[in-house]
Amino acid sequence: MNKRAIRESFDRAAGSYDSVAGLQRQVCELLLAALPKDSRANSILDAGCGTGYGLGLIKARWPTARVVAADFALGMLKSTAGERICADIEALPFPADTFDLYWSSLSIQWCDTQRAIAEAARVLAPGGLLAISSLGTGTLTELYNAFADVDRHRHVLEFAADLALADACNAAGLRNVRLTTRRIRRYHPDLKALLRALKSLGANQVGANRRPGLLGRRVWQAVEARYESLREAEGLPATYEVILCTATS
Ligand SMILES: C[S@@+](CC[C@H](N)C(=O)[O-])C[C@H]1O[C@@H](n2cnc3c(N)ncnc32)[C@H](O)[C@@H]1O
Repeated sequence: MNKRAIRESFDRAAGSYDSVAGLQRQVCELLLAALPKDSRANSILDAGCGTGYGLGLIKARWPTARVVAADFALGMLKSTAGERICADIEALPFPADTFDLYWSSLSIQWCDTQRAIAEAARVLAPGGLLAISSLGTGTLTELYNAFADVDRHRHVLEFAADLALADACNAAGLRNVRLTTRRIRRYHPDLKALLRALKSLGANQVGANRRPGLLGRRVWQAVEARYESLREAEGLPATYEVILCTATS
């Protein structure tokens, strides 16, 4: 993945992110609900905090905790309040054993999973709790299929299987690893609206082998027609396979 391009995309999207982040808010709420009701935390890291929706939930649930927000996109970070740091979550600028809750919602899929989880395990204090949401291989399959075979370029981010997340947690020495997956469907009026929403989120980078220019008109029409064949009463469906992962250090 081109980390710089990803960071720049999120940086550019900071102003529009909240207007299209319904799924991301829903996932933060699911992640909070997946944590044990009696979990205590005095120091918490939100890794890849974006504009801070998760931070609000965290502060409401653990009002006396020290909460640190980290993101590598300065624009995103500027929308948050409180203690914050511009940092890469694959190489966190904190000593070992700093936090007793590591929270990261829908950010790990942009990272090298093993590196990010190893860093999470390092900064978690013994007995600390890991709470991560990510996206699995069943994500945006409609979009992937609509673009399949039009050319030799990638048009959709390559999502990792949930087992890769579990393996990374086990390899990092985390315990009690629990994974649940859930399919969530969102609807868009048309394909252009879906692609616009992904861009407004900053989620339009697709990694290596990205197409450098625009699609030709005929190819675009073929892609659009393929997606249109999936239309339902609510609009064009976009499926997200949401992975919720908890573990202890
Ligand atoms: C889809 S947004 C999710 C934001 C927030 N957690 C939420 O639920 O709304 C992904 C965020 O992860 C950040 N991110 C991606 N890779 C990162 C990395 N390697 N280090 C730090 N932040 C990263 C992006 O800048 C972006 O703000």
